[in-house]
Order: sequence, then C-alpha cells, then structure tokens
Amino acid sequence: MTQAEANIGVVGLAAMGASLSRNLARHGNTVAVFNRHYSRTQTLITEHGSEGKFVPAQTLEEFVASLAKPRTAIIMVKAGEPTDEMINALADLMEPGDIIVDAGNAYFKDTIKREKAIRARGLHYVGCGVSGGEEGALLGPSMMPGGTDESWQTLGPILKSIAAVAEGEPCVTHIGSDGAGHFVKMVHNGIEYADMQLIAESYDLMRRGLGLTPEEIAEVFEDWDKGDLNSYLVQITSEVLHHTDAKTGKPFIDIVKDQAGMKGTGTWTVQTALELGVPVTGIGEAVFARGLSSTVELRQEAQDKGLEGPKAEGAFSASAADPEERKAFIEDVRQALYASKIVAYAQGFNEMEEGAKVYNWKLDLGAIARIWRGGCIIRAKFLNRISDAYDSGEQFGSLLFDPFFKKAVEGAQDSWRRVVASAVAAGIPVPVFSSSLAYYDALRSKRLPAALIQGQRDLFGAHTYGRVDEPGIFHTLWAADKSELKED
Ligand code: 6PG
Repeated sequence: MTQAEANIGVVGLAAMGASLSRNLARHGNTVAVFNRHYSRTQTLITEHGSEGKFVPAQTLEEFVASLAKPRTAIIMVKAGEPTDEMINALADLMEPGDIIVDAGNAYFKDTIKREKAIRARGLHYVGCGVSGGEEGALLGPSMMPGGTDESWQTLGPILKSIAAVAEGEPCVTHIGSDGAGHFVKMVHNGIEYADMQLIAESYDLMRRGLGLTPEEIAEVFEDWDKGDLNSYLVQITSEVLHHTDAKTGKPFIDIVKDQAGMKGTGTWTVQTALELGVPVTGIGEAVFARGLSSTVELRQEAQDKGLEGPKAEGAFSASAADPEERKAFIEDVRQALYASKIVAYAQGFNEMEEGAKVYNWKLDLGAIARIWRGGCIIRAKFLNRISDAYDSGEQFGSLLFDPFFKKAVEGAQDSWRRVVASAVAAGIPVPVFSSSLAYYDALRSKRLPAALIQGQRDLFGAHTYGRVDEPGIFHTLWAADKSELKED
C-alpha cells in the first residue's frame, strides 16, 4: 500500500501542471503527481525526478492514498468539463477536511457553485488564480487563492514556498472565500488585456505614424522600461520587436497574422463589470480590439471596398521628419501610455471594490497590488504606488483621486490629448488611449449630456427623470401639454 507521505499533489501534468509540480518539489514539498496518461508522469520523473521528492501515481486512487492528511490536491486540467469531472472523482476518494484546489482560470461564478457543492460534502474547495505562464509556474508565480480560512492554514505555507518574491514578500495572499480568488484573477487578466492593447497602440503610433522600424521601437520600449513604465509586458514587447523570423529574415512582427486570440477571461471581466455596473471602458475596448482584429472577412471587405481614411493617412509627416519633434512625440506616447494605464488599473480596482460589496468579500486591495508586483503578467513597478494608495487608509472612489496618480495623470494629460488628436487625424485607431481619455474627461465633467438622454427616455418611453432643483421622480406629458407631473 502506498504510504501517505506527500504534503501536496498535482493532477494534470501538461506544461503548467508539470512546471508547478517541479517548483513545489524544488522547494522541499513532497509532491504526488498524477496524469490521465501515465507516460507524461513518467517523462516528468525521468527528466526532473532529481529536482526534489515526487510520488508518481498510476491511478487516482493511488494518488489520493499517497497524500498526507489533510489531503491537498491541485487540479491543473482543462477548464470546464474536465475540471468538473476531476473535482468529482477526487471528492469521491477524499474525506472531510481535505482540500481540492483549482489552479486554472475559471469563471468565478462556476467556482462559487463548485465551492458550495464541495463544501456540502465536507471538503474544502479553493479556486486559485495563478499568473505568470509556464515560466512563472516553474520559477515563481503570483497566486490568488480563494477558499476558507481553514484551507488557507494548510495551503498558505505551501503556496508561499513556491510564489514569486517581490521586495522580500511572497506574491500570494488569501483573497477570500467563494470564488474571490478567481474573481481577482479575472480582473488581473482584464487589466492585462488593456495593458497589452495600450502597448500595441503605442507601437502602431511609432510604426505607422512615425515610420520607425521594429528595431528602433524595441529600443524605445527598452528605454521606457527604465522609468515609470518598468514592467514585464514592456520588457517582452522589446524582445518580440527585436526578434527576427528565422525562415524569412524579416522582423518577426511582420510575419505574424494581425488577429489576436483570446481564451475568455477578458470577456468575463467586461461581462461581470456590466453586471456590477462598473464602467471598465479601457478593458472593454481592449477586448473589442482583439475581436475586431479577428473579423477577417469584414476587414478584407473593407480593403476590397477601399474604405477611405483621412488625406494624411498613417504618417505624422511633420513629427516623423524632424528628429526633435519625433523625440517629443515619442515622449508624448510614453506619457499617454502611462496615463491610460493608470485609468485601466483604476477601472479594474473599481470592479474589485464593487465585486467585494456584491459578493460579500473583504478584498484587501493594497495586498492584491502587492502580490501583483512579482510573478504575474502585469507585474510592474507602479504597483508599489497602488499598494501605497490603498494601504494609506485614505478613502477614495477611484485611484485617479489618490494624490500621486492625480498628479501623474494631470501631468501627462497634454501629451495624452496630443497623441489621441494626432492618431485621430492620421486615421490610426487608438481605442484604449482614446476611451481612457474620454473616461477621464467624463469623470471630471461637472455636467454630462446624460441629461439629454434622460429627456429622450422620458419622451419616448415615460421612463421619468430626476430634477436638479427638487428631489423626487418626474415625468413630463410631452404631447398633451408642457407641464410636469411629479410621480412620487
Ligand atoms: C496569466 C495569463 C494567463 C492567460 C493566458 C492567455 O496571468 O498568466 O493571464 O492566465 O490565460 O496568458 O490569455 P488570453 O488567451 O485570454 O490572452
């Protein structure tokens, strides 16, 4: 009979699962490993068995039997049905008090349902966001575990042993129960979408607008990485732009199809924001931009039909020609990127605040910003500033009102406006730059044209409106006469 010696187990040994298992083993954990096809388990043991203590299992029964109590198993199988099947199979073999962890990307509402079903069987269910890709899983991811306080007692030390470390702190914290971990990971991904699209828009402005080469743009990003924009996504952007395609000798960026894929987490972020009533305009535009890039037939038809743009299509002739002006415009783009990025984070953090209210979670936003400083895809220097803002205890409705970010955006806004104006004039789409600026301006506006929309709604649908000078709900009898009826 197998000895129950493993303090943690991993089910599913594809790229992420195998990397996570190795990371766990390298950090002194005894790791039970199971994969549907045993050959994968054998490969892991043959290639990496010397990195630490693994307990390979041929069957799920053997796997569960090799776990010490409370048995803790991390599931790293495909999202959806395979995950559900594995949860049930494990729950059938486990006992009350044992812990099942889903470390894939899952829709937080599914996690809430799963947690409830598993809790009814006396077990713990933890939806755990894991960010950092394959490399992160191996060398230190950022992790966002949900689940009960009790499960965190067991899981906490294990996850801390393998997490990325930022400024001496492990990038993992207990987010809360009932889907909170997967909710926060979902918002992380929404911000990731906005950040990536903003970087892509910056590239486009320099490529099409200024006529710089990919190599030159890579150097600009390298330079930006030394300042406020220091981040993993900016770093990998330089790497992608420096890369030459081995087959053709062309810049890699020019041989890649311009159709961005997506697995769905960005869409969940926007759907959830709509349900919560939180305007995440930058994230929304980033998701739509990926969608638009993939409407291949529609885009082809636009080419075929010769849909016309402005006369000065594409090129910023003045700034492109003069080196000083070019330098100044690149600095404008840098500032615009910084300001728009702050807006994207402000919107994402608002979504978390609202989600916490509706789903009854106590999200520690300062701690969330801290665990995103290392290991995850959106890791960036300025997350320190976000954690400072939330840790200060000051109450503010938006990150944009925090003194540091208020000053940063105010300082960047002239550049931001110039960039959006130049892009619009040249016919270069900058959906996230422009929607973030529109969000900023809408937020600042003392009076919005929403008043007119209320008038229209009342006229065609008797939807009523509020008055600025009197409390209550009103309706105007538009056709009959011009008088107002107070409804309450
Ligand atoms: C991470 C990433 C990851 C994401 C994939 C693909 O934090 O490690 O966000 O979870 O799922 O990178 O995402 P898309 O296919 O949606 O771009």
